Amino acid sequence: MSEAASFRNSAGLLPSLAPLLHAWLPRRRWFAGKGQPVTGFSLVSATELLPVRSTGPGLLHLLLGVHRPGLPADAPPDCYQLLLGVRGVLPSRLAPALIGRPASGPLAGRMVYEGLDDPRLAEVVLERLRTPGTLGPLRFDRFDGAPALPGGLAARPLGAEQSNTSLVYGDSYILKFFRRVQPGPNPDLELPLALARAGCSRVPVPVAWYESVTPAPYTLGVLQPYLRGSADGWRLALDSLAAGRPFTEEARALGRVTAEVHTALAAALPTVELRRAQTELLADAMNRRLNEAARAVPALLPYAPRLRAAFDALAGLGEEGLARRAQRVHGDLHLGQTLYAGTHPPGPPAASPENRAVSAAPGGRWSVIDFEGEPARPLDERRRPQPPVRDIAGMLRSFDYAARTHRPWNPVWAEDCRIAYCEGYAETSGTDPREEPELLRAYETDKAVYEVVYEARHRPDWLPVPLAAIDRLAAAVI
Ligand SMILES: Nc1ncnc2c1ncn2[C@@H]1O[C@H](COP(=O)(O)OP(=O)(O)OP(=O)(O)O)[C@@H](O)[C@H]1O
Ligand SMILES: [Mg+2]
Repeated sequence: MSEAASFRNSAGLLPSLAPLLHAWLPRRRWFAGKGQPVTGFSLVSATELLPVRSTGPGLLHLLLGVHRPGLPADAPPDCYQLLLGVRGVLPSRLAPALIGRPASGPLAGRMVYEGLDDPRLAEVVLERLRTPGTLGPLRFDRFDGAPALPGGLAARPLGAEQSNTSLVYGDSYILKFFRRVQPGPNPDLELPLALARAGCSRVPVPVAWYESVTPAPYTLGVLQPYLRGSADGWRLALDSLAAGRPFTEEARALGRVTAEVHTALAAALPTVELRRAQTELLADAMNRRLNEAARAVPALLPYAPRLRAAFDALAGLGEEGLARRAQRVHGDLHLGQTLYAGTHPPGPPAASPENRAVSAAPGGRWSVIDFEGEPARPLDERRRPQPPVRDIAGMLRSFDYAARTHRPWNPVWAEDCRIAYCEGYAETSGTDPREEPELLRAYETDKAVYEVVYEARHRPDWLPVPLAAIDRLAAAVI
């Protein structure tokens, strides 16, 4: 493969696409800058994955800088990955994918559309991944020792609400295309790769991936085995609540799996010791987030002094002079990031496995997915070692969320899950998170504060869920 893959005529490309992208991009589910005006675009790179010719479809890979007002002049723009299909005539089945028809430039008069909606073009990406190498600024890689990828697997959209775009190939593999990208290794490739190399089987192996090499290293796509017929932990938890079934065995297993992943991450990647100064910094950051949150959501104000006491207790731990370990963690662990698979016979390939009824029958296996962390946070912050309790707090908040979605509210269900999860974690790691209540409470509080802001902004109907947790956590501080 050669440098010739960079799009020949990219000079006139952006001005001709910009009016179309202004209309199209802000309406994408994965566009992170909703509600903020886009002031302009810049072209980071343009690569032909399938040459754009006068006949047949072409596939253009773009890294697009998206400029917004109010950012300092030297701040880099947000960068998005686009895969644009180009055809002279668009078949009617692809009509919903249309972005528009540029009036000028190298694609003048051609139909430009969302390339990942076109199974023919989705196949091109898998073909590229089958053969490691470079193509213009892009590099395609494969996991050492992974069996060869089969060709000709039909692609279908995952059909899930998500902040990236995933395609399923032949019910065997799933390829996640990262949409908003930041320079540097994405933990959603970095951590599964480290875990797979360490022999931890709780995470689907990244069998192939691709990145950009220039002008900056961006992780762009990761291919993993598709866990066919799996159901995520959130759905299984809601099923258990609806059926009046306990979820304690599942919660215990999830505790063990979390500990297994943490142990493997601590062995595979650098850890650091948190001493007094670092613990105080963590508490300061939590206090800062609380102050910002209380400005945005005044309902938090009455609780703020007692919540600060939880963060002060965290800072106080450092004064004891005991070091605590920080390590790489999942960073956004909740029930929706776990998949249970393996007890069900494979269904017909055309069926949608997402919709099949599944219960966590014995004999299946839990896996953990989506190690991206909280995408709104900068990449270097997400890649920093953190106390493993951060993930534990995330999962405990998730049990609370699940219980609160059920009518009538079932606090016993959540409490039982909490106990079982911590017990499971202790069984595998030798450390029960409840033995350090100050640490756990501070991280649960920090998470609940984040949730309050998120819900107030995006789902005001859900705001009572984290506010109830805030009420409970504030009351727990003496
Ligand atoms: N290996 C897999 N096997 C089966 N299904 C999977 C696999 N990986 C992911 N999924 C499904 O795809 C969904 C989206 O995956 P993922 O969470 O990685 O994407 P995301 O864009 O980061 O989503 P989000 O916006 O929720 O963070 C998951 O909720 C799960 O249902
Ligand atoms: Mg994600």
